[in-house]
Amino acid sequence: MTTRVIVNIAELTTNDAAFGDGTPSGRIVDAAMVLDDHHVLWVGSNADAPDADERIDAGDCAVIPGFVDSHTHLVFAGERSDEFEARMAGQRYDGGGIARSVAATRAATRDQLRDATQRRVDALRASGVTTLEIKSGYELTLEGETRLVQIASEWSDDVTFLGAHVVPTEFSHDRDAYVELVGGAMLASCAPASKWADVFCDVGAFSVDEARWILLRAREAGLGLRVHGNQLGDSGGVALAVELGAASVDHCSHVHDRDVDALGASSTVATLLPGAEFSTKSPYPSARRLLDAGVTVALATDCNPGTSYVTNMGVVIALAVREMGMTVDEAMWAASRGGALALGRDDVGRLSPGARAHVVLLEAPRSAHVAYRVGGPLVREVLVD
Ligand code: NIG
Ligand code: FE
Repeated sequence: MTTRVIVNIAELTTNDAAFGDGTPSGRIVDAAMVLDDHHVLWVGSNADAPDADERIDAGDCAVIPGFVDSHTHLVFAGERSDEFEARMAGQRYDGGGIARSVAATRAATRDQLRDATQRRVDALRASGVTTLEIKSGYELTLEGETRLVQIASEWSDDVTFLGAHVVPTEFSHDRDAYVELVGGAMLASCAPASKWADVFCDVGAFSVDEARWILLRAREAGLGLRVHGNQLGDSGGVALAVELGAASVDHCSHVHDRDVDALGASSTVATLLPGAEFSTKSPYPSARRLLDAGVTVALATDCNPGTSYVTNMGVVIALAVREMGMTVDEAMWAASRGGALALGRDDVGRLSPGARAHVVLLEAPRSAHVAYRVGGPLVREVLVD
């Protein structure tokens, strides 16, 4: 096992309040850190840096934990930029375009889907993402969804079965049969390659009762639970996620005070996806309101062909700071440690002893540049293991 010491770090964000300035960012100025092949061994002051087999000079740049993108729909085919243009001209998003991605994804070969996914993963990585969740949801047949979770597992340890994305057109006259398929044979086929199950519980997708039934079947199959909730309206998805103890409820664009209170009293993470509000020209929810109620907030890209074809976590962070009332430090934390908590993980999203060696060296002296220089190429180097 080789040990490496990184010296001359202008600002190290550990995301562990036991280190540095004692804030949630756990920030150490003039820092150094020691890694072995897979883990962080030591963090501290540059002046106290121990020896190691190899020495890396950070040249006074800022170092942060790799971002944890806890919500993506990366495996899809097809083209929907015309919907984005129509929304910018005033058309409302209602989820109807999902059927277009389903048709194109069904028609694509496994190699075409793998190549497209690889390109999206590469783009996310270039923005500093080192851990990602990937959902299925663009085939909506037993064989197709199974293929998607298998493809997703090539890039992710956090694969989510989203057979309950929408009811496909061939079942539009018998939605009960589709719900039964999702929570029955489709789930059984997808569970071996999945860690999580998710349901789009919203107007035009699945009702609270349908979502509850599917999620309870998924829990019996050993999967963790996540919910797309309250994106398009006051759908009851947030309350359902809290009721079931889901790891995360995502979007939360339309939340009632009672939802905020319920989230604040729960361990369910609220994952906000400002790329979706941006790309659907919708009002941004207030992260401040959630944070002030004691809710754990994560930020993710929601990279998908319909509502958020965003592959840059820095842009997500900048939107959250500019439009959702987060401080830069809160947003940086939410896109790393918050994302890890949304995936029930303590090994990523932080850089303190025991964490995975997922290290991002920025082309900047302070991590705030990620929001400040929005969209710029801020990542000098990404070290993964
Ligand atoms: O997270 N809300 C549901 N699913 C995606 C959008 C899917 C699509 O339009 O293709 C989302 O926003
Ligand atoms: Fe989504």
